[in-house]
Amino acid sequence: MIKVAPNSREITFDRQELIVSKTDLRGKLTYANRVFMRVSNFSEADLLGKDHSIIRHPDMPRGVFYGLWKALKSGQEFFGFVKNITSDGHYYWVFANITPDVVNGEKVGFFSVRRTAPKGALQVIEDIYRQMRDKEKGFPPAQAPEASWNWMVQNVLETRNQSYEQFVIELYQEHSQGGAR
Ligand SMILES: Cc1cc2nc3c(=O)[nH]c(=O)nc-3n(C[C@H](O)[C@H](O)[C@H](O)COP(=O)(O)O)c2cc1C
Repeated sequence: MIKVAPNSREITFDRQELIVSKTDLRGKLTYANRVFMRVSNFSEADLLGKDHSIIRHPDMPRGVFYGLWKALKSGQEFFGFVKNITSDGHYYWVFANITPDVVNGEKVGFFSVRRTAPKGALQVIEDIYRQMRDKEKGFPPAQAPEASWNWMVQNVLETRNQSYEQFVIELYQEHSQGGAR
């Protein structure tokens, strides 16, 4: 897919707003709320049926999506900071939660709710993501996502004795108190 070139303009949204989407089991969009469309500047017709990677920003390390799908495929939910791209090449950061979407007891896809990401947390996260991208450059494409995820587990999580979920939730809570944005 040909995508617009990324630029340095940040798009923000209010602290009380939620960006919501749903996908099928493979990550194809089946629903997006109004806030999603406004912030990403994609219409419903642009989004539905497309892969969620339509808003993937090239600054995101592939290892984060490796961790995301590993969690979802093993039946766990995922929390994390994600930099997304808009249809005009601008960017916006979110703190995302993804859970299985269960209808009548059957898993039909995934459900994601995102809040604005506090600036203080992003200072920590951007530094880690930069190092993960650097790590990925040293590996063949097929091995890079797992390698950078493992680097993060060993160098960020194990030194703190935390799971990824504990680490990102703590970072979010620490910086979202007192109106950080
Ligand atoms: C419910 C759900 C929400 C997702 N939200 C995002 C998102 O906001 N941004 C994003 O880049 N990828 C998101 N993904 C992951 C994408 O499906 C995809 O794995 C990622 O963009 C990497 O794409 P690539 O492997 O084609 O580079 C989401 C996946 C699911 C299941």
